[in-house]
Amino acid sequence: MKSSRFLVAVMIVTAMLSFRGESSVRAKPPNPVARSLPSGPLGETIRLGETLVEQTATHPLTKPHVGNSLNCTSCHLKNGTSPKAATFIGVATAYPAWSPRERKVITLEDRVLNCFMRSCNGIRPPLGSKPSVAITAYISWLSDGEVLRMNAGNSKGPNAVPRLAVKPESASIERGELLYARKCATCHGKDGAGEDKNPPVWGQQSFNQGAGLADTVQLASWLKVAMPLDETDLADQEALDIAAFVNTHDRPSFNLKNHLPVESRLGEYNAEQTR
Ligand code: HEC
Ligand code: HEC
Repeated sequence: MKSSRFLVAVMIVTAMLSFRGESSVRAKPPNPVARSLPSGPLGETIRLGETLVEQTATHPLTKPHVGNSLNCTSCHLKNGTSPKAATFIGVATAYPAWSPRERKVITLEDRVLNCFMRSCNGIRPPLGSKPSVAITAYISWLSDGEVLRMNAGNSKGPNAVPRLAVKPESASIERGELLYARKCATCHGKDGAGEDKNPPVWGQQSFNQGAGLADTVQLASWLKVAMPLDETDLADQEALDIAAFVNTHDRPSFNLKNHLPVESRLGEYNAEQTR
């Protein structure tokens, strides 16, 4: 029963990927505005997925699965279409992929659901559930026309944020604190709590310790291409210093079992992962 549901999920995701091998040259990230939405229920599902990534913390379909005030688009900027900052464009071409974190080959749907548990500090939605399928459909649509690439090394799309070549031990929290006050506090607050459209960067309403951005080098790499929102101008060392400062603060802890739904709603948690 469990494994048959999982198989169906794999089939849905696979069917949503488009195999158009006519060009071996990788096109530059296409402009999603120019894409047309498929007609009928598929188009409606994609549209719903876009709404859900933008309103994850408040939409009735996703709110029960989110444990902080972040939306997917708090980090996947411009609904995942910003070319640099954790773009969704092209991501579907890299799945199924080997995931070092889960120590399993995972599907795009798995990857989406895992972000609910960590970055959104919530409870994993069931495989094949409406929000899960809609978001996966939206991300797949943003890869329409791109070439599928099997990805044995890690579970990252072709346009993933490049990891900065910085040494975490060279980070200065003191410098980071000064830089944060100068470049970040106007939007995210001195206390990191954010306000209005500016999300919290630490504290109980932010991402948890199990999220990618809780890793200081990963946060620095993302800041480099994403923040300050109006002008990304951080030097590598500045991004590292600020990331180190941001991650000295409290945020929700991560204990896997608190993020899995009750057994009957789980389907299958596709991971060799216990923490
Ligand atoms: C706190 C920030 C944050 C939030 C919130 C967040 N993510 Fe992510 N997510 C990331 C980062 C950082 C990565 C790694 C991206 C990279 O390396 O380019 C990532 C990776 C991913 C990937 C894999 C990308 C790839 O290249 O393979 C998917 C899919 C994804 N997120 C979906 C979501 C969805 C869906 C949501 C909302 C339910 C969400 N994320 C919420 C930060 C976040
Ligand atoms: C002009 C306002 C502005 C400035 C300045 C700014 N941010 Fe942001 N930041 C935002 C907004 C808005 C988002 C959410 C993106 C969205 O909704 O489009 C965000 C998202 C984030 C996120 C991911 C979501 C979360 O809350 O964890 C982090 C981390 C972050 N910013 C850190 C920083 C840091 C560090 C700086 C300083 C280098 C900075 N920001 C400067 C407005 C700003």
